Amino acid sequence: MKRVEHIDLTPPGTEDVRHDLTRDELTIITAPVYGGRIPVTAIERLKSLRADGTPAVLVVVYGNRAYEDALLELKDLATGLGFKAVAGAAFIGEHSYSTPDTPIATGRPDEADLEKARTFGACTRT
Ligand SMILES: Cc1cc2nc3c(=O)[nH]c(=O)nc-3n(C[C@H](O)[C@H](O)[C@H](O)COP(=O)(O)O)c2cc1C
Repeated sequence: MKRVEHIDLTPPGTEDVRHDLTRDELTIITAPVYGGRIPVTAIERLKSLRADGTPAVLVVVYGNRAYEDALLELKDLATGLGFKAVAGAAFIGEHSYSTPDTPIATGRPDEADLEKARTFGACTRT
């Protein structure tokens, strides 16, 4: 039987709760892109994860400007925490600063984005 556990690191204080992942727990790690990087707060919270050669699928979400070094930074962070990166992707979401007057990636993810995400998920399924 397959079991899925969600670890939500968005609430404040979650960095204080340690999570140990075993090597047979495929882990999907996601983070937003701020200034082409992983936000410092996200890094602090992700450091609550400890892995033991655990396979990790790494995903960053950006607002259609550029994700620059964010995916590489997430890989380096995950590797330092004991994960083994097996796949990575960057997906587009509407930019946080998008407004009706200055639209940036409005409506993203759209159906084509979601189809790409489904294809990526199917490719990385173990
Ligand atoms: C402070 C800040 C910096 C951002 N920098 C980038 C960036 O460098 N490139 C980009 O494409 N999107 C950038 N974005 C857009 C976010 O990556 C995008 O909107 C993402 O979906 C935000 O996820 P969140 O709502 O979980 O924070 C930035 C957003 C914020 C708030």
